[in-house]
Amino acid sequence: MAETWHHRHILSLSAFTPTDYDTVIRTALSFRDVLSRRTKKVPTLQGRVVTNLFFEPSTRTRSSFELAAKRLSADVLNFAPGSSSLTKGETILDTAKTYLAMGADLMVVRHQSAGVPHAIAAELDRLQSGVGVLNAGDGPHEHPSQALLDLFTLAQALNPDNPTVTALRGKKVALVGDILHSRVARSNLWSLTACGAEVHLAGPPTLLPPGFGAAFQSFPLDAAGVERAIVQHSTLAPALADADFVMTLRLQRERMAQHLLPSLREYHQQFGITRDRIRPCAPGVKVLHPGPTNRGVELSSDLMDDPQYSLIGRQVTNGIATRMALLYLMGTRRSDALDLL
Ligand code: NCD
Repeated sequence: MAETWHHRHILSLSAFTPTDYDTVIRTALSFRDVLSRRTKKVPTLQGRVVTNLFFEPSTRTRSSFELAAKRLSADVLNFAPGSSSLTKGETILDTAKTYLAMGADLMVVRHQSAGVPHAIAAELDRLQSGVGVLNAGDGPHEHPSQALLDLFTLAQALNPDNPTVTALRGKKVALVGDILHSRVARSNLWSLTACGAEVHLAGPPTLLPPGFGAAFQSFPLDAAGVERAIVQHSTLAPALADADFVMTLRLQRERMAQHLLPSLREYHQQFGITRDRIRPCAPGVKVLHPGPTNRGVELSSDLMDDPQYSLIGRQVTNGIATRMALLYLMGTRRSDALDLL
């Protein structure tokens, strides 16, 4: 499968093809099997160094990448900005180059500003290092590994024995909430539409500006101009009607420059997902959330904990196999010229 893989870096999903998504899912599936064994480790990245450069707080993504790298037998370096030389004025690119000099083979980067993983990747390319960069969330821009684990989770929910991306074709997925500030929404828009799902966006106008979806549609899927199916709503009901999946998004209060909502209670009244609200969805509808959740705001507490509807725990579990797949597919192409020993 790795032979068909052409992405040295994973920075954005905008150029991913259905074949790429299929490769990720099939690879994640094989790692899920590894994770269900008694010995949950494979020697794939033995002797390699995976560096987690997280300039922004994170619980699940950082831990998930760390565990994924360890399950592949890599050595993992975790960078925490508070206790680093950044506080002494070192630039981000110099930090990345420090890890490069220590022998990093892959870098997983999260930063509060859009474009930082791209800048690091460009510098590593300029140095002809061969080292791959994986964007673990850059500002409100993209979060590819989250969208890929979401895709795996949807495919698995549709067909537990044989999850494939083709099962997504024609499915209605409602993306609800703070779409404007959400890197998860942006990455999911690329992946879901490329796999043929119909994406319905819903949120208050301050968090879902008019024309938001249309901007994605102006990037057709291929030279033949295959359209991405995106419908935008300013109320919740039409997005939820007959939806097969409801993806809720966290209100990104840390990214809101002004007060964009009257109150969290009012938000919940209009856009919060509850048992009553999902009645008009398709039978068997499932609810997702990338976490961390504002319990009782984006979705009701009881729904969040109800295994009949909630795939939230599954998303976290699938994150490990998906990230193992991504680290494996990116592989280690570090240039020999950089070897220190
Ligand atoms: C998301 C993130 O950080 O972008 N969380 C995550 O990675 N699991 C979503 C969020 O912060 O709301």
